Parts: sequence; structure tokens; C-alpha cells
Amino acid sequence: MAERRLLRMGNPLLFRRADAVTVFDTEPLEQLIQDLFDTMAARGGVGLAAPQIGVELRVIVLGMVSAARYPNAPPIPRTALINPQLESIDDAIDEDWEGCLSLPGMRGRVPRFRRIHYAGYGADGKRIEREVDDFHARVLQHECDHLDGTLYPQRMRDLSGFGFEEELSLAGKLADLPC
Ligand code: NI
Repeated sequence: MAERRLLRMGNPLLFRRADAVTVFDTEPLEQLIQDLFDTMAARGGVGLAAPQIGVELRVIVLGMVSAARYPNAPPIPRTALINPQLESIDDAIDEDWEGCLSLPGMRGRVPRFRRIHYAGYGADGKRIEREVDDFHARVLQHECDHLDGTLYPQRMRDLSGFGFEEELSLAGKLADLPC
């Protein structure tokens, strides 16, 4: 178990493009993935990208059985994905609330593709491919953005939909979140 320090918005490392992984099935890569899962679990997140713990590699983890941070979201299989790529299946876009462990206590309404196809590799170098929609698709797009140095506020169309969870809850805007 190794929970790593989580970088927050303002740290320049979060705005850099991460490098592709070129060697698979190694001890350091396994350790990185374990640290990502441990850090994500400790914070109750549903996804985490390596740059958020200061590692500039194209590695993300995601997974959720149920999360207090997202009480109405369906489960996402526990997955480590290396060098991920995604494409939208059609033009449908949904705007919905999103959060990020690098912006603790905040939420914003972010437009994302509703349906995507994504692919990448597991730690063992085996190819992973999926077609997903809704929350799973949103999490994947959010984590892939981290690998290109993009945080969710940079995707927002209207910053009036950005704020502190506590205020948004008091205003009745985050009805699905526990107060
Ligand atoms: Ni994030």
C-alpha cells in the first residue's frame, strides 16, 4: 500500500503532456499502477491519472463499485489502462457535473461525448478495447485529458457552472450528492 501525494491545480506538472509507456510488464510499472489504485481508493475517487501523482507517463486507473462522491453512477470495472486512446462513436454530447481529486471540494458542468470507443494496454501489455457510454465514458475522457495536461475547467463552456460542492449543494444544484 502506498498512497502518494496528490498534485492539485496550480502545479505545473498537471499541465504537461505525459510520455507514452514503451516497456511493459515491469516492476516499476506494476508499482505505479498499485500506487494509483491505492491513492484513488484513499480519496474515494473513481479514476486517477499518473500525472496527478507527479509521474509523467500515460497511465490511468479507473474503477468503482459504488462511490459516495458519485452515488447514482453505475459500476465501472477496475481497470489500469496504459497509452489509452479514445474516439467518439457519434456526435452526442452530454453536459454534467464532474469533479477531480486535483480540485478538491469543487465541481463543474463539463461537456463530454456520450458514447466512446477506447483502447489501450494492461500492465502486461495485453490490449484492452471497450465501447462505453455515460458515466464510464465521462470518467475515461476526464482521465485521458490529464495525460494531455488538461483539467476539466479547461473543457467547460460556462464557468457559472463551476463552484464549491458545499455552495452548489446548498443551492440545490447537486441534488445527487450527499450533503
Ligand atoms: Ni481528475
